[in-house]
Amino acid sequence: MPKCNLCVNAVAWRFLGLDTSWGLWHKILIISKISHYNVYFAMGTPHQSLKPRRSSATAVEMVEALGQSEAFWAFQERLSRVSPVNRPVLLVGERGTGKELAATRLHYLSTRWQGPLVALNCAALSPALMESELFGYEKGAFTGALQRRHGRFEAAEGGTLFLDEIGNIPIEIQEKILRVVEYNTFERVGSSESIRVDVRIIAATNADLVALSAKNLFKRDLLDRLSFEVLFLPPLRDRKGDIPLLANHFAARMAFELGRQEIPRFSADAMAALEGYAWPGNVRELKNVVERAVYRSDSPQIMDINFNPFHSPYEQAPLSKEDHPRKKPQVQEMTEFLDKPLKEAVWELKVRLLEKALIKAKYNQKTAAAALGLTYHQFRGLYRKYRGPLK
Ligand SMILES: Nc1ncnc2c1ncn2[C@@H]1O[C@H](COP(=O)(O)OP(=O)(O)OP(=O)(O)O)[C@@H](O)[C@H]1O
Ligand SMILES: [Mg+2]
Repeated sequence: MPKCNLCVNAVAWRFLGLDTSWGLWHKILIISKISHYNVYFAMGTPHQSLKPRRSSATAVEMVEALGQSEAFWAFQERLSRVSPVNRPVLLVGERGTGKELAATRLHYLSTRWQGPLVALNCAALSPALMESELFGYEKGAFTGALQRRHGRFEAAEGGTLFLDEIGNIPIEIQEKILRVVEYNTFERVGSSESIRVDVRIIAATNADLVALSAKNLFKRDLLDRLSFEVLFLPPLRDRKGDIPLLANHFAARMAFELGRQEIPRFSADAMAALEGYAWPGNVRELKNVVERAVYRSDSPQIMDINFNPFHSPYEQAPLSKEDHPRKKPQVQEMTEFLDKPLKEAVWELKVRLLEKALIKAKYNQKTAAAALGLTYHQFRGLYRKYRGPLK
């Protein structure tokens, strides 16, 4: 059994052990054979927090973490080591590297796994809202505070609070968080009563917090307290060995979601394209690209990868020498087209040009695209549109 199964199952079996209290939640354990990898993965889709105690708790989805590369395993080993230690952890990584997934794993591998896991994305809130979201408020604390409300710290009592994008927290609120980390106490907005909590903080960022603290934009004391352990998530470009595993996994899941009968396979060219790409958006981008490729493909053999969905098929391609208007079509052909309605003539011309280019290129679509002065994706767009009459 490859190493990756072990890490996934550690989490999966814990979920399965929760049968009585989890009656309401969806729980699926799918044991699937994808390509030549045996990959076991567990999926759960709780509607609120994983074990909601307060209505304000935010849902944190449970997803499997897959990988087999050295970089992935070095990261997972450090994560497993620190999980049971009751101290804050800071997760640092580029967008889409799996910070939220890592926070979830940290929680479920910790001694707090039966407690709540509550998340707050600090980038999504204004400073005022962030304070009341984190610490709650008393009735009448501000206009609109019609009744007392518990914040995320209280919602996470006995469990873990995941503070995502922590670099976006304003200094005044950092001060208040520092007090919780140091003394386990805080006050709700509009109250002077101290509330004691038992919460482990896991924070994540894409920012350079050391540089921010040098500019006095992040409190050094808080940084020191949060960084008991700092885990750096490897970007996908440094774990290229994981690309086939992840791509096959995302493809199989997408096919399952679409109700397809066969597990998709990537052609050698398609897989080479996936492995050759730089993945600035990391695993999230890979997931999107693969899911798009699966849903667009009519066959289980995936040949076509579109990395950029914003690439317009209507973009003007540079005219090749042969396409230049100075070179007129033969007179006979011209009159043939001139007798037809415009739409029909254009349609027929395109079909003929595609056909001619394909025959000349011995049906190599890349060569045909180049001959027509089109990018491969532009060509594929046209080919898909006209392939009926082309056959
Ligand atoms: N090792 C992995 N195995 C399977 N899926 C993964 C893995 N790592 C990340 N993912 C998936 O990639 C997507 C992005 O992961 P996640 O949201 O955890 O990244 P992030 O670092 O928090 O991103 P951002 O900085 O943009 O918030 C999610 O759908 C997640 O399930
Ligand atoms: Mg995230």
